[in-house]
Amino acid sequence: MTATNSVETDVSRFGALFAAAAAAGEAAQPLVAGGVIVAGMGGSGIAGRLAQALAERCGGLHVHAWSDYGLPAWADGSEQLIAISYSGNTAETLSGVERAIELDCKWEAITTGGRLAALAREHGARLITIEPGHQPRAALPLLLVPLLRRLPISGIAAQLAETGDVLGAAGAAGDGESPVGAATAASPDGDSGASGPVAIAVQLAGKLPFIYGAGGLATVAYRWRCQIAENAKQLAVHHALPELDHNEIVGWAAPPPNAVVVALREPDEPKAVATRWEATRAAAWRDVTVIECRARGESPLARWLSLVQLGDAVSVELARLNGVEPTPVAVIEELKRMLEE
Ligand code: F6R
Repeated sequence: MTATNSVETDVSRFGALFAAAAAAGEAAQPLVAGGVIVAGMGGSGIAGRLAQALAERCGGLHVHAWSDYGLPAWADGSEQLIAISYSGNTAETLSGVERAIELDCKWEAITTGGRLAALAREHGARLITIEPGHQPRAALPLLLVPLLRRLPISGIAAQLAETGDVLGAAGAAGDGESPVGAATAASPDGDSGASGPVAIAVQLAGKLPFIYGAGGLATVAYRWRCQIAENAKQLAVHHALPELDHNEIVGWAAPPPNAVVVALREPDEPKAVATRWEATRAAAWRDVTVIECRARGESPLARWLSLVQLGDAVSVELARLNGVEPTPVAVIEELKRMLEE
C-alpha cells in the first residue's frame, strides 16, 4: 500500500489525527448489541485490541478482538462484527466478513476502500470510510475513534473528549524533549533521570527491550513492540503483569546481556499493582536498566493513548538511531504479494 504521509509525520501529528477523527465522527451513534467481535490484523487490529481492553476495564458491552482467519468457532450470528482493515484488502479480515455473511451475522466495516468497502456496498452493510494515504499503523487514531464511537463502552464520550485534550496538549511528539510522556530510567547502579522519546530511544538502541504493562497497558506494550519492529526494524518483547510473574519472571535468572525493561505504568495504580511492580523489580530486574514510563490523563483511554503516543515517538527516534526509514515495511508487502492479497 502506498503511503503519501510518512510515518514520522503522522507520529508527530498523533494528537492532531485524533482530533480530526473525533471532529469527523461527532454525529455517530453507538450500535445496539450485547457483544461485538472486532476483526483486524496488525496496525488495524490494534484498534480492536484497545477497544477490548477498554470494555474489560469500563464495562458496557462484551468486545472480543479477533486477529485470524474466519471468526471464533463460538460465533453464532448473535454478535455483531466490525471489520477493520485500513487497505480493505487483508485476507484474514475479509475471511471474517465472509464467515459473518454465512452466519447471517450483522456486520459493518471501517476502511479506506478495497475489497472490504466493495463487499459492504454490495451487502448494504454500514461502511465508515477513512482518509487514505497513511501507513495503517500510523492511522491508528483514524481507525480507533470511529470504532470507539460505535461501542457503548461506559463513559466513552467523556473519555474521547479528555483524550483529545491530553494528546493535543502534548504538542509534536518526536521532537525529542516534548512532554509526550513522563519516563524515568533507573540503571542497576541506581542513576535515574527524566527522559523524553529521544532519551528513551538512546537507551533502547542495540538492546532487546522487554516491554511490560498491567491491564490495558499490556495492549499498549504490544503496540510498542509492533512499532519498534515496524518503524525501527528492531525486535522487542512484551508481556503482561501480573501474568509474567507466573512464568516469564523465571527466565530473568539468565537474561540476554542486552536486555532492558520498559515498564508502562498508570498514576494512582491499585495498591496490589503498585506493590507487584516493586516486588517484581526487586526479584527479577536488580541487574537491569528499568525505564519507567508514566501515563498522563485521568481516563483509561487518555492514559493508554498517551503511552501509545510516547511509544510511537520512541520507535521513530529509534529508527533514526538504527539508520533505517520508519515508513517502509517491505517484507510485509512482499509477503502479501506472495499470498496474492
Ligand atoms: C502496516 C501495518 C500492518 C497492516 C496489516 C494489515 O503499516 O501496520 O500491520 O496494518 O498488514 O493491513 P490492513 O491494516 O490494511 O488491514
